Amino acid sequence: MKKLLLFMAALAALTVVSVAAQASPQSDLKAFQGYFKKRFPNVPFDDYANGAYALNANARAQWQSIMLFPPYEFELAKGKKIWDTPFKDGKTFASCFRNGGVDIAQHYPYWDPHTRQVRTIEMDINSCRRRNGEKPYKNLTAGPIAEVTAYMKSMSRGKPVSIDLSAPGMQQAYERGKRFFWARRGQLNFSCATCHVDNAGKFIRGNVLSAALGHGVGFPAYRAKFGHLITLDKRYMGCNKKVRAAPFKPQSEEYRDLEVYETYMDTGLPLDAPSYRP
Ligand code: HEC
Repeated sequence: MKKLLLFMAALAALTVVSVAAQASPQSDLKAFQGYFKKRFPNVPFDDYANGAYALNANARAQWQSIMLFPPYEFELAKGKKIWDTPFKDGKTFASCFRNGGVDIAQHYPYWDPHTRQVRTIEMDINSCRRRNGEKPYKNLTAGPIAEVTAYMKSMSRGKPVSIDLSAPGMQQAYERGKRFFWARRGQLNFSCATCHVDNAGKFIRGNVLSAALGHGVGFPAYRAKFGHLITLDKRYMGCNKKVRAAPFKPQSEEYRDLEVYETYMDTGLPLDAPSYRP
């Protein structure tokens, strides 16, 4: 443990502030993507969709062999089955979504002027259930919610991320998410950026640290560690705990704002969910 703390302290000493201090979302985006392009000139842009595998050839080779028989197939098929099975009132999930849910996942999260909040796929899945007389899913980190989200995202596989920040409420969410991402927290006093910007591509306890560019486009992800699909919020909770900070609740305003910021930074990357992660 002591060794780990020392290593963490060494990581924390390095800081790249220039990426953080930009004015508009557009200039943030340019600086953010430009930083990784300069830092890893040989990594093609679309490759960032593959998380840490984009930055390490050994890990990537192992991953590619696992992906010959993707371990998420079973749950993805379950997601499709749930999606296609009518609710008690005879309607299906497709009835709740624009375009029947096809090719829309790349535009999430979005601002809903009626409820005046940022909405995620998970929230829309649960409100669809409620509207059709079903109980919303309680578990927001795994199980059916992850399976249905995975299926909906799979209908947008390869589509470039493009979210709309034009509503003032969405811009405020973006600013809050940005602050969350760059703020140091926990007993270790680390920000998300300490690990996923400054130290991207480096090893931490046998894991290659992914670049923040690409965060979320592979989620829900099948984690070998858990043996099932997890939602992005479960990953956020895990990363908060890593620095011994208290995690927020899944689908809390904090995590939805963070998802807005991280997803906007992914602009142009192809969705690639579900995915496999160790
Ligand atoms: C102490 C270092 C550390 C900090 C701080 C940290 N993470 Fe992580 N994070 C990891 C490790 C290790 C992994 C697993 C390897 C990887 O994919 O980077 C990970 C994975 C992730 C992933 C999954 C990437 C993928 O495609 O599989 C996301 C998303 C993520 N972190 C977001 C965050 C956010 C947001 C924060 C700030 C709230 C944060 N992390 C803070 C260490 C950290």
